[in-house]
Amino acid sequence: MRLLFIGDVVGSPGRKMVEQYLPKLKEKHRPNIIIINGENAAGGKGITEKIYRSFLEQGAHVVTLGNHAWDQRDIFEFIDDAKALVRPANFPEGVPGKGIVYIQIEHMEVAVINLQGRIFLPAIDCPFKKADELIAEAAQRTPIIFVDFHAEATSEKQAMGWYLDGRVSAVVGTHTHVQTADARILPKGTAYITDVGMTGPYDGILGVDREVVLRKFLTSLPVRFQIKEGRSQLNAVLIDVDIKTGRANKIERIIINDDHPYFE
Ligand SMILES: [Fe+2]
Ligand SMILES: [Fe+2]
Repeated sequence: MRLLFIGDVVGSPGRKMVEQYLPKLKEKHRPNIIIINGENAAGGKGITEKIYRSFLEQGAHVVTLGNHAWDQRDIFEFIDDAKALVRPANFPEGVPGKGIVYIQIEHMEVAVINLQGRIFLPAIDCPFKKADELIAEAAQRTPIIFVDFHAEATSEKQAMGWYLDGRVSAVVGTHTHVQTADARILPKGTAYITDVGMTGPYDGILGVDREVVLRKFLTSLPVRFQIKEGRSQLNAVLIDVDIKTGRANKIERIIINDDHPYFE
């Protein structure tokens, strides 16, 4: 089974990259399951029902979120009915939505879990203990379990990778918007990357207009973040999983931008 995971889609530049390149990536790699992190898909902040549905129409099976999950008011209207939308599972008990989803792919069940880190991010429940709880539940149903660990600190992400090695098919990091070069299969069969990267503006700072971010660094004054217009990029990973054991046997990074034109 082959998974294509697309890193944080940022605003309309990111959505356009998905529209332009997802068909080509599907044709080239024939992924069985496609997961998109959509936490920044609506103008850089959160996601709307319309965008969520358009991702599914384009072939995504699951959309994951992160710390921007609640940024669009629209989310509260549809999250409880959105079967393929998953938000960090270790958000406080009782908040809307769910932290794990199960989907049917060609007669196979696949579990997708979203977790969020606690370093340099709001204080929430322990992602490691929540992972234990959800994996115990998921393992009753399927050996194929994917985890999107939305976190800032590389240490916390590596810790999660090692903690879950052999218990899930993959731990992929999201949130920092810069793809890391450490994709590997851990010794017990879990595919791992610290960060998949970001799909959106190529010439901004993490997707945001660089003039605005620079003004903030230079003056410490409050600024309003705007999406950078212009050239765009797509970041993703491809992961191959043995469907009997749930172990991954390959992970490959994908970078598409003007400096790395993937399809030439
Ligand atoms: Fe993000
Ligand atoms: Fe984030």
